[in-house]
Amino acid sequence: MAKKLRVGVVFGGRSGEHEISIRSAAAVIEAIDQKKYEVIPIAITKEGKWLAPSAASALLPTLASQQLPEEIINSNPGDIAILGDPSHQGLTRITSNDDDVSPQTLDVVFPVLHGPYGEDGTLQGLLEMADVPYVGCGVVASACGMDKVAMKMLFAQSGLPLCKYVWFLRSEWQRDQTKALRRVAREIGFPCFVKPANLGSSVGISKAKDKESLIKAIDLAAEYDRKVIVEELVNARELECAVLGNDQPSASLPGEYVVHDEAARFLDYTEKYASTGHVEFVVPAPVSKAMSAKIQRLAIQAFQAVDGSGLARVDFFLTRDTKELLVNELNTLPGLTEVSGYPKMWAASGLPFPKMLERLIDLAFERHQDKRKTKKTI
Ligand SMILES: Nc1ncnc2c1ncn2[C@@H]1O[C@H](COP(=O)(O)OP(=O)(O)O)[C@@H](O)[C@H]1O
Ligand SMILES: [Mg+2]
Repeated sequence: MAKKLRVGVVFGGRSGEHEISIRSAAAVIEAIDQKKYEVIPIAITKEGKWLAPSAASALLPTLASQQLPEEIINSNPGDIAILGDPSHQGLTRITSNDDDVSPQTLDVVFPVLHGPYGEDGTLQGLLEMADVPYVGCGVVASACGMDKVAMKMLFAQSGLPLCKYVWFLRSEWQRDQTKALRRVAREIGFPCFVKPANLGSSVGISKAKDKESLIKAIDLAAEYDRKVIVEELVNARELECAVLGNDQPSASLPGEYVVHDEAARFLDYTEKYASTGHVEFVVPAPVSKAMSAKIQRLAIQAFQAVDGSGLARVDFFLTRDTKELLVNELNTLPGLTEVSGYPKMWAASGLPFPKMLERLIDLAFERHQDKRKTKKTI
């Protein structure tokens, strides 16, 4: 039998989405084909400390940790790290008084981290330095997928339809509030939506209906990032599409968050991950064949606009009055939990979760090989 590929699943992380990341990692570990892959769990705490596989597996729910071999659970808990030095292919022990100094090689790393310090190109940068193949988008796509200003600029450049927006720096806001408020009133109007450029899971996002609530909303967003975006409030259905591939990506059937209770303000963190009954994710989205094809086409265009690789979920607005399709955002490491849209959309498109994971790992190797073709010296 062929040797199993060793997959380092990195999860947890320093972002507010730490718990969701654990759930995503658990779902990945439960679904991955254990006959083909040996999973090495690696956790990052909220403080940014890396935990060795034994300590990392203790963070996982029972079902996922039961999938892991005994030797992982009982392995040396000493400090570990991935070094940005290609001569250490994978995990390195960094405890000086450690008997077991042998590094644990990893064939591929699967970052299952959402939000800053994981989805934003920082971990990807480290893995590039280490020259380890990894699942998902590279540095540029990850960073641009996290920064809503950079993302919108790339989307606009590629001709994708977006809602109206303005953005400014926190320092500009602090220097001259009147100027920023006038700009919003002139270019966007009320009601509007205020967001920090970086982050996710609706953190720091709020609606404003007048000048007073706008000031509050901008102050709040400015606590979370140095760039603030103000968008027109669109009254729209929310649709999503899963993209998979490298240079020739494919798009899944689109899905839709169907809101059963209009009192649900907007799709916040709780709504997306808790089964509150207010929203339901429906695949395929109840739209015409032509609309479904358009969503798939624009999802691929958005993926290519940021130079995506591996996977991304592209989120859309379909306006209720004019039936206009707008791209809202692209997520380079979408939720992979049992209730998440990304795996559900692929499953409904004929690619079950375990096969999807296999494909993602193959794509990681493909991208790494492709990069190797590039001359490194002049
Ligand atoms: N311009 C907008 N108009 C109306 N609703 C919006 C707008 N922007 C965001 N929302 C709502 O807020 C949610 C979160 O915003 P989003 O930009 O997707 O940020 P996040 O990165 O936190 O997911 C969206 O899913 C949607 O429900
Ligand atoms: Mg979103």
